Amino acid sequence: MRIIRKTTEMAVWSQAERQQGQRIAFVATMGALHEGHLSLVREAKKRGNRVVVSIFVNPTQFAPAEDFAAYPRNFVRDRGLLETEGVDVLFHPAAEDIYPPGNQTHVEVKELSKILCGARRPGHFQGVATVVTKLFNVVRPDVAIFGEKDYQQLQIIRRLVRDLFLDVEIVGHPIVRESDGIAMSSRNEYLNADERKAARCLSRSLHRAECLVRRGETSAKAIAEAVVAELHNEPLAVVEYVTISDVETLEPLEQIRQSALLALSVTIGQARLIDNKVLLRSSGE
Ligand code: PAF
Repeated sequence: MRIIRKTTEMAVWSQAERQQGQRIAFVATMGALHEGHLSLVREAKKRGNRVVVSIFVNPTQFAPAEDFAAYPRNFVRDRGLLETEGVDVLFHPAAEDIYPPGNQTHVEVKELSKILCGARRPGHFQGVATVVTKLFNVVRPDVAIFGEKDYQQLQIIRRLVRDLFLDVEIVGHPIVRESDGIAMSSRNEYLNADERKAARCLSRSLHRAECLVRRGETSAKAIAEAVVAELHNEPLAVVEYVTISDVETLEPLEQIRQSALLALSVTIGQARLIDNKVLLRSSGE
């Protein structure tokens, strides 16, 4: 596996591979890799014949009071995992290379960035949209794979690719869960044993919503209230939001007709955890 740190070297490598007709598949990460990331890498291997993974803890998507400094970093372990997966290039740029002196341009996907997590983390999605656009312009992938755990991020990336005519296919990949239902996340590392157990309430509440929809409930309010009640059964959980929205625009819904996104954000101890499920009404209802 080749390790590239400079944006110029990365761009030269990609151009040479593309000229030889190779299809480049890309996975952008902030490191602290887990099975969720590795499932994206495996999907990338199916969709391209060259795989590039970036590790870059992007400072611009963290607010000053957030966990940028504390965000888990373990480059040696991550490099070993990617090598085992047969990744071709690990792109690991320095912040000064991605944001060189004098940098003053950003990318903002306006409406989609204002709601859900965006309403609680001002500037976060502008940081994500900017760095993902920069990474796409350097890596020049044919296809990029993003996890559906960050559902809003995925929709924002799909929107910016359409709006800016970027020539890259975006593929969403299903959430990977631990055996007890907890969605894999680098931030799970912040949880102690009791908090880790408490975190099961997120997937439990999603399951409750799914059962209600299966029994014919269509009122978003009724479903959201049942989800909040389930979360409140867990004393360590502090609910930030529970929303039921359109699967594409993420605008709030009152009634579920065919499908809806149930998204939630909950703080447990030091960890802000998000999870989601697309609720589907079976045909004929
Ligand atoms: O999902 C992440 O890990 C990050 O938001 C991303 C897409 C790598 C951008 O920094």
